[in-house]
Amino acid sequence: MENGSKATSHFSIPEYVLKSSEKKMPRLGFGTAAFPFELPSEVSKKAILQAIEIGYRHFDTAFLYGTEQPLGEAIIEAISVGLIESRDELFITSKLWCSDAHGELVLPALQRSLQNLKLEYLDLYLIHWPLSATPGTYEFPIKEEDFIPMDFNAVWAGMEECQRLGLTKSIGVSNFSCKKLADILAFAKIPPAINQVEMNPLWQQKKLRAFCNENGILLTAYSPLGAKGTPWGTNRVMENEVLNQIAKAKGKTLAQICIRWVYEQGVIVLVKSFNSERMMQNLEIFNWSLSEEELEMINAIPQSRGCDPFTTIDEVWDGEL
Ligand code: A2P
Repeated sequence: MENGSKATSHFSIPEYVLKSSEKKMPRLGFGTAAFPFELPSEVSKKAILQAIEIGYRHFDTAFLYGTEQPLGEAIIEAISVGLIESRDELFITSKLWCSDAHGELVLPALQRSLQNLKLEYLDLYLIHWPLSATPGTYEFPIKEEDFIPMDFNAVWAGMEECQRLGLTKSIGVSNFSCKKLADILAFAKIPPAINQVEMNPLWQQKKLRAFCNENGILLTAYSPLGAKGTPWGTNRVMENEVLNQIAKAKGKTLAQICIRWVYEQGVIVLVKSFNSERMMQNLEIFNWSLSEEELEMINAIPQSRGCDPFTTIDEVWDGEL
């Protein structure tokens, strides 16, 4: 067992209450983007059930990941074996894929996700990327010729309609720069509740965090470990010497240092591990904290953008860091 990986299953995860729905959102959630996305459904379902059993209550999926179905099946089984009493105890997020990011396709896409999940409503529905793609194409990565600039007005109106119909309690975006958030805020009748972006000690998102704070948008961090083991991620976070030093001195794992650091910034953090020991370890971040000195060391780490699944990445981030 690695340092700090002993965990107890009975503890509570701090929550935020979303203004738009009054729903409690656990500040640590379980990511289900397991690469390759064609992972057998049984593997994902087993990991998700185990996660519910040890105390995770917030689950993040997306149409693209292929984990809506196993998540739905795991929820049904968790209720039937008595791990939870009802679906209302869970916070479930899914995301609109780029090829469905066209005004008239938003509602049917959410309805399809709900069917996959066998749920009546989502807690949160996000625009996955600020990019549209040719309708009907679900290839990942998206081919260069399939990219289409997004009609933000039409797509956001579709998202608002989903919330008005009660099919999702809240709506938001993912991978949106300050500039793109400002564009949406200029015409939104319902402002985005959440922006979900990559955030970790090597991509601290300082500018975006300040912008979101000023505008009442909560930030959720994906890939707090730098998406190690995926074609778009790198090992740079998990091999960082400063983080390694802090982890060793503190008797924690480097992953725990990253997750705790994100949590201490007031950001909601998603952790993904389908390995039972690491799944536990990633929950063990609530009964200790980083010292001023450690926070300063992390603050001084040189910054650069991480996750890069698209060749249009500079357009996605509008040159922002
Ligand atoms: P695994 O599922 O085998 O544990 P990120 O959250 O930055 O996208 O990183 C996810 C990757 O990090 C997954 O490949 C996951 O693999 C791995 N991972 C998750 N938790 C830990 C941990 N505590 N220690 C080391 N690797 C981890």
